[in-house]
Amino acid sequence: MCGIVGYTGAERAQGILIEGLTRLEYRGYDSAGVAIQEGGALEVVCRKGKVGELSRTLEDFDLKGTCGIGHTRWATHGKPSEANAHPHTSCAGDIAIVHNGIIENFAELRDELMARGHSFASDTDTEVVAHLVEEAYDGDLRAAVADATARLVGAYGLAVVCDREPGTIIVTRKDSPIVVGRGAEGSYVASDMIAMIDATRDVVVLADGQTARLTAEGIEYFDEAGEPIEPTVTHVDWDIDMAEKGGHPDFMLKEIYEQPRVIRDTLAGRLVSGALAIDELDMTPEELDLVDRVYVIACGTSYHAGLIAKNLIEAWARIPCEVEVASEFRYRNPIITPTTLVVAVSQSGETADTLAAIRDARVKGAKVFGITNVVGSPVARESDGVIYTKANKEIAVASTKSFLGQVASLTLLALLLAQAKGGLTTAQIRLLFSELADTAEQVEAILEDTAAIDEAALACKDATSALFIGRGMGAAISYEGALKLKEISYLHAEAYAAGEMKHGPIALIDEGFPVIAIATKSPVYDKIVSNLQESKARGAMIVAVATEGDEDIRKHADHVIYIPKVRDAFSAITASVPLQLFARAVAVARGCDVDQPRNLAKSVTVE
Ligand code: AGP
Repeated sequence: MCGIVGYTGAERAQGILIEGLTRLEYRGYDSAGVAIQEGGALEVVCRKGKVGELSRTLEDFDLKGTCGIGHTRWATHGKPSEANAHPHTSCAGDIAIVHNGIIENFAELRDELMARGHSFASDTDTEVVAHLVEEAYDGDLRAAVADATARLVGAYGLAVVCDREPGTIIVTRKDSPIVVGRGAEGSYVASDMIAMIDATRDVVVLADGQTARLTAEGIEYFDEAGEPIEPTVTHVDWDIDMAEKGGHPDFMLKEIYEQPRVIRDTLAGRLVSGALAIDELDMTPEELDLVDRVYVIACGTSYHAGLIAKNLIEAWARIPCEVEVASEFRYRNPIITPTTLVVAVSQSGETADTLAAIRDARVKGAKVFGITNVVGSPVARESDGVIYTKANKEIAVASTKSFLGQVASLTLLALLLAQAKGGLTTAQIRLLFSELADTAEQVEAILEDTAAIDEAALACKDATSALFIGRGMGAAISYEGALKLKEISYLHAEAYAAGEMKHGPIALIDEGFPVIAIATKSPVYDKIVSNLQESKARGAMIVAVATEGDEDIRKHADHVIYIPKVRDAFSAITASVPLQLFARAVAVARGCDVDQPRNLAKSVTVE
């Protein structure tokens, strides 16, 4: 997720763009830049780092232009650097664009453009758009942008300027937000209305395929066919704080609701002509076929994503997969051979124990593959290959959307290993990939109605401890559910494989003791039901996450949270979301700081 701003009007653009970018830094800040029309040409200034770096640099420029665009970046393709910072320009430097989204077919477009003589200054997906507009431009910037975007596959929110159309900004979008508005001093565009809230609260949220032409005098709107349309103006009365959270009360809830997009973005472009493509892994199918052991190393929630991966890798690729907390792995002298694949999972990409484990594994000769949310992070740099989870910047300390991005990425890896080892046929892989992609809609359905979750949370809020149980995939999900609850509500919670109940944990159960069970339809459903019965017989208050249509579960649970029916292999994606919402609802009911829980930090860069 990146931040786009643009302004054209009576005022100098420089300060307005910087102010807008500062408001959008929550969307990412690994680099920033502006393009301002200055004296008949485009002045483009970019800097690695936060918007403040760019602002200090611009003080030396003192640009007087009154039309420009700006961008603050959360890298998805191409490491954070000045060269990869937006705006990107055409070869002639007469057209500049800023982009939020992912161009899935950028590689083929880049090859095509280079074959036609275009030279590229960055390794981003975005830059192809600047060269496509350059090729299409014939005196009408709006038409050129329309021609260019017709070639794009993926998601984009774009703002484009050209030195031959002074004072004009063209904006358009597909699956990436663009908001425009008129203020007293001119026309504004941004990825999020928070960037223009001081200038206007009457905004137009562009719909997919729509285009707007902004000038100092006003804004014109066009439909997908280029026909003029009347806009729908929305008056927004959020304050700044609410606006930064997209209208949600906290970043955690905002990020939970971003999860369908994260699944879609993480999977985008991964199935090419029916075959899985994870080029970043940089391992041939033959090398993958030689892999005879996988270690997944991580900490916290990322470790729980590894537990889910174990189920999938062993089921589909039929090779052993061990999941270890990095702080143990790094000190126990693990058995590693040249055919061992070590997968390091880390949202921040800078967790000290995970980094140390990577270094240790590499010294021992393992191939290391990173899965992280931060482009250019130490985990990314020190791995032989990396998948980025495309969750964009995650602000809440409790990992939610990055966790689902990890699970989706690890599922891809499991499928890739199975593809290389012949554990699954091409048809099976296509079917599984399709069902994996469908989980985005299933998560959306879960997010539409949270009443049962909120009710269960209120029933548990005054407890002093809780037990999460599950079997198979449900056990892995339970560990993550227990961590979410304890880390943000400070209510003690632990998780057990349900079959362990008789081996000790059942001693915990007394009147009203909350047991949260993953009881979705699975090969071991009957077993988990018997665990519910034995718990209920001892007075437990049962909260069951169950499969829609399962009426029988109501006999065994006090609260039932239904989720759409899904293949057991993908239940971690769908069942984790109610547990995230449950943990958050308990924390809110207990008056906890949901985004910044006590004693915790978003990344643990020390042992
Ligand atoms: C999860 O909600 C916590 N924020 C924490 O357990 C986290 O997953 C852990 O510290 C690992 O962080 P990483 O993914 O950035 O390596």
